Parts: sequence; C-alpha cells; structure tokens
Amino acid sequence: MAKFLVTGGAGFIGSHLAAALAARGDSVRILDNFATGKRENLAAAPGAELLEGDLRDLAAVRRACAGVDYIFHEGALPSVARSVEDPVTSDDTNTRGTLHILIAARDAGVKRVVYAGSSSAYGESATLPKHEEMMADPISPYGVSKYAGENYCRAFAKCYGLSTVVLRYFNVFGPRQDPGSPYSGVIALFCKAAVEGTDAMIHGDGEQSRDFTYIDNVVRGNLLAIERDVPAGMVMNCATGSAISLNGLVRALGGITGKNIKISYGPPRTGDIKHSLANIDRARRVLGYEPSVDFRDGLSRTLQWYRTQGAAKTGPGAPVSQR
Ligand SMILES: NC(=O)c1ccc[n+]([C@@H]2O[C@H](COP(=O)([O-])OP(=O)(O)OC[C@H]3O[C@@H](n4cnc5c(N)ncnc54)[C@H](O)[C@@H]3O)[C@@H](O)[C@H]2O)c1
Repeated sequence: MAKFLVTGGAGFIGSHLAAALAARGDSVRILDNFATGKRENLAAAPGAELLEGDLRDLAAVRRACAGVDYIFHEGALPSVARSVEDPVTSDDTNTRGTLHILIAARDAGVKRVVYAGSSSAYGESATLPKHEEMMADPISPYGVSKYAGENYCRAFAKCYGLSTVVLRYFNVFGPRQDPGSPYSGVIALFCKAAVEGTDAMIHGDGEQSRDFTYIDNVVRGNLLAIERDVPAGMVMNCATGSAISLNGLVRALGGITGKNIKISYGPPRTGDIKHSLANIDRARRVLGYEPSVDFRDGLSRTLQWYRTQGAAKTGPGAPVSQR
C-alpha cells in the first residue's frame, strides 16, 4: 500500500483524486487550508488523514511530505480573475507553494510528484490544437504562476533528479466543482442556472470554446502518471482533444434538461482567451491515456449531481477562464 499526499484535497479535483486512491485502498493524506476547498468534500475519501496547513508555510509542507511515496499537487488558487485582482496572493500560493512542495518532496525522498499544470500556460496563441512543443505564452498572472510551477518541476528533475510529471489540465468539470464563488468554472455555474431556472451569464459573445474535460478523465490521467514510466519533468496535456463553445454548452444543457435556458451576455473578461483545444497525443503515447467519459455523458452526470445537491449559493457571473 503506497502513501499519497494530495495537496488541495478538499477542493474539486483533489477530492476526486483522494476518493479514487481511498477507494482502491491506498493511504491518503490531504494538505489544505480551505482557501477555496470545502470540509464536506473530505467525506469523499473516508479514512484520509487531514493536515490543515498552508502551502506557503514550508514547515507545514515538510510535515505533509514526511513518509509519503507520491504526491498529487493540486493545491492552488485556481482562478484567472482572482489573479488579475490580486496577483501577489496567487503567485505566493501557486509558485512559492509549488517550490515548497518540491523542496520538501526532494528532502523526504518522495518517489514522484505529479503537478496540476494548466492550459493557461499556452496563452492566446492562435494555433490549435495546443501541443506541448509550442512555446508557452501565459497572459494572466494565474497562467504565469502555473507555468512557473511547471518550470520548477522541470528544474527539480534536472538539478536534483526528483521524478516530476506535469499534467496540463484544460477546463475540468464535474461533481463537487463549486458554483458558489465569483471565480467558479462555467459549467458549475450553468448547471446551477439550469437547476434554479435562472439565466446563464456569458462574458463575450459565447463563441469562445474550451476543451471541457470530465473529472474522471483527469483522475485517470493522474493515476497513469504515477504508474507508467515517464521521463522526469515531462509536460503532458490532459484533456479530451475536442472543444465546444459556450453557446453550444448552453444548448447541450437545454437538450439534457428539455428546457430552454436563457443566456444573458456581458462584456468579455480580462485575461480570457478565445479558443482552447488540446492535442493529447503525448499523453496517449506515454501514459496510454484515453478519455473514457465524453463531454455529453460528463455533462449529464454533472447536472444530475447539482440537481441532487441543490447546488450552492448564488454567484454573480460565468467566467470562462482558460484554466
Ligand atoms: N478546474 C480546472 O479546470 C483546472 C484547470 C487547469 C488546472 N487546474 C489546476 O488544478 C488544481 C485543482 O483545481 P480545482 O479546480 O480543484 O480548484 P479548487 O479551488 O477546488 O481546489 C484547490 C484547493 O487548493 C486549496 N488551497 C488553496 N490555497 C492553498 C494554500 N495556500 N495551502 C493549502 N491549500 C490551498 C484550496 O483550499 C482547495 O481545496 C489547481 O492547481 C488548478 O490550478 C484546474
């Protein structure tokens, strides 16, 4: 039985990873300060050990890494809009927090660190689909901080021989994604609007598109990133290889609910890019990764979850950040 540390394990993606590990009998420790995560998400991983602490505190991070075999580093402030408002806190958490994880992992003899990278590293280059050989060109403080974390992962592989793998997630969605904050993902907000019968709010003309990736695919990619031989420091897209526009997303939700969901359009948001789509050939080749839940199936499962959970409190709009 291996021991895993999941940073950000009270958050959306981290709680699904912790749940998958706990379900297969692995020992799980979670490091979280509940900046955006929720205590109720911990119930998804029964038996997981909680270390309440901050990625910005190296001593706390060292305690979290002690005795650990593998790390899934999900903890971050994952919002473009928030980073535009407060770049220092985003950078402290995302960049310095990652540096702390790598230092502590190196010193504790951790076997591998899998880092939650982000498609925001690509910025607004018009080339589609985005592939890993393209030059990174982040356009928001969030994108810069996530890309800096990647670079630290590669530097630690080179300088200290630490086994690191970077998975660049595109727009991940699914149950437990928080629709209650102004920084929430667009699918969480639209599902909430569909359940509550309110308008879906779109910033821009709605023709912006994203490679929306159902959470189970991301969990699978992470588990493979531990199991397979991967050259240290390698960066891989973790997505589906297909994209849908926001207008298309609202239509798809309307198709599932059988209701006409109304859209209100607002001004475009600073730092958002127009289109995002991944090439996933490298993950296919190196990890044997293949998305197993497609967009529509994932959307139905997600909507069903929001229906049964009754969603959360009202959030003011629908950002469609390149996550
Ligand atoms: N959701 C997406 O579409 C997406 C896309 C690309 C990359 N990512 C990356 O995936 C990871 C997980 O994102 P998510 O969507 O689950 O977000 P989330 O906000 O649900 O989870 C992030 C978790 O990190 C915790 N955290 C924040 N600051 C912390 C700190 N200083 N110390 C300890 N814990 C802290 C939060 O409390 C939360 O539990 C992030 O690294 C994010 O950048 C997410």
